[in-house]
Amino acid sequence: MTNKMWGGRFASAPAGIMEEINASIDFDKRLFAQDIAGSKAHCEMLADTGIISREDADAIHQGLDTIASEIEAGKFTFSRALEDVHMNIESRLNELIGSTAGKLHTARSRNDQVATDFRLYIRDAIDQLDALLGGLQSALADRAHEHAATIMPGFTHLQTAQPVTFGHHCLAYVEMLARDRGRFIDARKRANESPLGAAALAGTSFPIDRGMTAKALGFDGAAANSLDAVSDRDFVLETLSAASITAVHLSRLSEEIVIWSSAGFNLLTLSDKFTTGSSIMPQKRNPDAAELVRAKTGAVFGAFTQLLIVMKGLPLAYSKDMQEDKVPAFTALDALSLMLVAMTGMVADMEPNVAAMRKAAAAGHSTATDLADWLVRTLDMPFRDAHHVTGELVALAETQSIGLSRLTLEDMQAVEPRITDEVFSILSVQNSVKSRKSYGGTAPSNVRKQARGWIKRLEKEATSG
Ligand code: ARG
Repeated sequence: MTNKMWGGRFASAPAGIMEEINASIDFDKRLFAQDIAGSKAHCEMLADTGIISREDADAIHQGLDTIASEIEAGKFTFSRALEDVHMNIESRLNELIGSTAGKLHTARSRNDQVATDFRLYIRDAIDQLDALLGGLQSALADRAHEHAATIMPGFTHLQTAQPVTFGHHCLAYVEMLARDRGRFIDARKRANESPLGAAALAGTSFPIDRGMTAKALGFDGAAANSLDAVSDRDFVLETLSAASITAVHLSRLSEEIVIWSSAGFNLLTLSDKFTTGSSIMPQKRNPDAAELVRAKTGAVFGAFTQLLIVMKGLPLAYSKDMQEDKVPAFTALDALSLMLVAMTGMVADMEPNVAAMRKAAAAGHSTATDLADWLVRTLDMPFRDAHHVTGELVALAETQSIGLSRLTLEDMQAVEPRITDEVFSILSVQNSVKSRKSYGGTAPSNVRKQARGWIKRLEKEATSG
C-alpha cells in the first residue's frame, strides 16, 4: 500500500529501511500539543477568511480536541508508517471526522507546520529554563546572604591569592546566571515569529491571514519571507548556544564543588542527598551529582555542534536533513534542565566548612597585597617598590616557615625600617576582606547588600510570574 498522505504518484510502498530512516514519530511526538495548537489556529483562520466553512472548522476543532485528550491519556497509537506527528494526527482526524479532515491542510505544508510547532516548543522550553535558572540564582543568593562574612581563600591559577568571602563567590555565579537568562530571553524574542502560512516555501494563493494565526499562537508577528520562514533554525541554534554557555557555568561550579569537597581542600561538605558511597571503600563520599553535571555539559555542547553541522550545508528552503534538528534540541534541553535542578539541590544543601575555610584563607601569605597596599598608603611608596619590599618579607617568612603575620616587628623593620606595629592589623584575613569595599569588591558589607538586592529582585520576579 502506498502512503495515504502523499502516495498518489507512487506505485509501491517505501522499503522497510526507508521507513526506518524516514520516520521521526519516535521523537517528534513530543510536539503533539504544539502541533494541535498550530492546527487549531490555522483552522480558525481558514474559517474566518472563508477558505473553509465554519461547520467544517468546528468538526476539525472538535476532532483535534479528541486527539489531544487521547494522546494525553496515553490512548493514542502512533504509527511509524505515518512518519511524523503531523501525519499521525491528521490520519486520526480522518478516522474521527472523515474526509473533512483533509481540508485542514489547505494553504499549509508540513514545512511551515513543523517550523511553527518547533518554535512554540522552544519558546516553552526557554520559559521553563528561565524559571529553573531563577531558582538556582535564588538558592545561591540565599547562601550568599547567609555567608556574606564567611572568609575563604580566593584563588587565581588555583593558588591561594587573596581572602574573599564565600558569599562573594556565590554571587559571582548569580551574575553569570543572570547573563544566561538574558541570552535565553534574547533568543526567545527572535524565535517568536510565526512561519505558519509560508506553506511549502513560496507562500500560498489562498487569501490567508498570517497575522491572525501569529496572534492566536502568541507570536509577535509573521515571518516576512516564506523561504526563510521554512528553512530557518536559528532559533534552535541560538537556544543551544545559550544552553552551552549556561552549561559552561554549571560545569565550572561543579568542578569547584568537586575540588572543594575533596579531603585535600576540605572547604565544603555536600549533603547525603547529593553524594554516593563507594561499594569497596566505606569511608568514601563521592560528589557524583557535581561530576554528572560536569559530564552532561558534553551532551549539551555535542547537541549544539551536531545541529550546526546539520544546518551548515543546506540550500534553501526545506531539506529533510532538518528533521534531525529535534533530537539534539531535546537532548540538550533535557540535560540542561536536569543539571539545573541537581545544582539547585546541591547548592541549597551544601555546607561550607567555615573554620577550615578561614584557616585556608590565611595560608599562602594571602594578605601580602594588603601589606603592599599599606606601604603605599602609609609610607607613600610607589606600588612597584612596595611590591618588592613585601616580596622580601614573604621570602623571610618562608625561611622561618611561618605566615607573614607571624614575623616580628624587628624582622620587618630589618627589611623596611619605617614599618610600625600598625601593620599587624592589616595582615588579618578579616580586616583584609573588610577593607575591600570598592564597588563589586568582597567586603561583607558589600556582599550582604548585593545578596539582599538579588533576593528581593528574584522574589519579585517569581511572584510576578
Ligand atoms: N517530519 C518532518 C520534519 O520534522 C516534517 C516536514 C516534512 N516536510 C517534507 N517536505 N517532507 O522536518
